[in-house]
Amino acid sequence: MTGFRADHLGAIPAPMTETIYVLNGPNLNLLGLREPEIYGSTTLDEIAGMLEDRARELGFAIEMRQTNHEGMLVDWLHEAQAEGARAVLLNAAAYTHTSIALLDAIKAISTPVVEVHLSDPKTREEFRHTSFVGMGAVRTVEGHGAESYRIALEAVASGEV
Ligand code: DQA
Repeated sequence: MTGFRADHLGAIPAPMTETIYVLNGPNLNLLGLREPEIYGSTTLDEIAGMLEDRARELGFAIEMRQTNHEGMLVDWLHEAQAEGARAVLLNAAAYTHTSIALLDAIKAISTPVVEVHLSDPKTREEFRHTSFVGMGAVRTVEGHGAESYRIALEAVASGEV
């Protein structure tokens, strides 16, 4: 019977592993090569591996994705809700500062969204100081390099988010 296991006590619900979506926006596929003095030398694949290991330790699964297309991020936010994700960690990269569509998508779903950035955009050029993503997110973790993702994951796992 799906979702249940039988033992001598009868049918007991099996614990379901909750999934955390980790959505990454434009140019983050070039992490490691791209402006390493700002974003560090860790690649997105290495971040994915680190997050998968930490998530497993914490009893969660990770769905890690990257796209250079704004509408794809909108579709994936909707999907996170439809699939019953526990939360979304969203590094929307430059769309953070431009995309009302992403803000609307975050507001349209009940899945909590944590905004993530490697750098601290508020200490950089003025055009990075506005975050439409941050207007909808329940929490922002920024300025810790690749560690920002782990901190955001742990905030979800601990129930803070
Ligand atoms: C970024 C910050 C954004 O301002 C920038 O456009 C990015 C990366 C970060 O993770 O520090 O592409 O989201």
